[in-house]
Amino acid sequence: MEKKQKIILTGDRPTGKLHIGHYVGSLRRRVELQNSGQFDKIFIFEADAQALTDNIDNPEKVRQNVIEVALDYLAAGLDPSLSTLFIQSQIPELCELSFYFMDLVSVSRLQRNPTVKTEIQMRGFGGEAIPVGFFTYPISQAADIAMFRATTVPAGEDQEPMLEQCREIVRRFNNIYGDTLVEPEILLPDNAACLRLPGTDGKAKMSKSLGNCIYLSDSADEVNRKVKTMYTDPTHLQVSDPGHLEGNTVFTYLDAFATDEQVARLTADYQTLQEMKDHYTRGGLGDMKCKKLLMAVLQETLEPIRQRRAEYEKDIPMVYDILRHGCEVAREAAAQTMDDVRRAMKINYFQDLALIEEQSRRFSAK
Ligand code: TRP
Repeated sequence: MEKKQKIILTGDRPTGKLHIGHYVGSLRRRVELQNSGQFDKIFIFEADAQALTDNIDNPEKVRQNVIEVALDYLAAGLDPSLSTLFIQSQIPELCELSFYFMDLVSVSRLQRNPTVKTEIQMRGFGGEAIPVGFFTYPISQAADIAMFRATTVPAGEDQEPMLEQCREIVRRFNNIYGDTLVEPEILLPDNAACLRLPGTDGKAKMSKSLGNCIYLSDSADEVNRKVKTMYTDPTHLQVSDPGHLEGNTVFTYLDAFATDEQVARLTADYQTLQEMKDHYTRGGLGDMKCKKLLMAVLQETLEPIRQRRAEYEKDIPMVYDILRHGCEVAREAAAQTMDDVRRAMKINYFQDLALIEEQSRRFSAK
């Protein structure tokens, strides 16, 4: 029997440039998995059609950010010779599979999807004004994942309800039509600080609208400026005061980014991050020293990313070619899955010679 392939699929909505929350939440892991050589196929895509479900009046925003996110992907180390980078809207098979998946999900099940629930509240769609496309995007997302037979979806915690819904749909499909599609698993970040990186202002989430993001494409000066104004511990007034780590954004970022090797190399006084934390909580360590370390650590991570971005920015037509090629590869994979889906659903009329013969016999016997 054929060994089950290990396949990664994940993606982002191209509604803004990617920030360091995206990086520690998923992007860094994708690059590591890509370079581990443990996966048979890797699909990374821009969910532009999904982005349009709640940006319907702003197509230009999505269009502009498709290239920004592609640059962020390449800059972060996704390698088009190892990972297929593509754009959702260019794979019409996804609409087709979504349409069939719609028969497998009830309206009330969609209403119970917590991501849909909170996003509806957050985005302020008033009750009836929810577009059907937005309401049903978990179905379209299930199609994204199932289409590429993904076994592994590296994503943030917020995507868990989507994955659960996808598994339900796949299970239901396989029960009705026979074993055809693959149930995926989510791969969450392994460090709590990376699950949801707070904004530089200490707010729960980094978000463009809150203006509390550090972007992968920020210059070194911008990064330093943003770190300088970062939220720390409001009760830590004098250097000698004991400081607190909970909710202290500088330490959350250090947890997400700094290795002990870096702490030892970039500070004079500490071998590990824990030693620095102990000093901070005892009192006697000022915020600025912690911020200095964070700046140095962030620059070590971001500088190579910035350099790669600058290289790719010099040849934008090539970046579009990378995406175009990725779309071709993705369409081929999608076409194969759709062949299997149509066969399973008994809508493969013209591929099934036995069907045509059988029907001829039936009618000639009349
Ligand atoms: N919903 C995801 C986000 O907002 C993007 C996305 C669309 C996705 N389809 C996906 C992520 C499939 C993982 C797998 O970031």
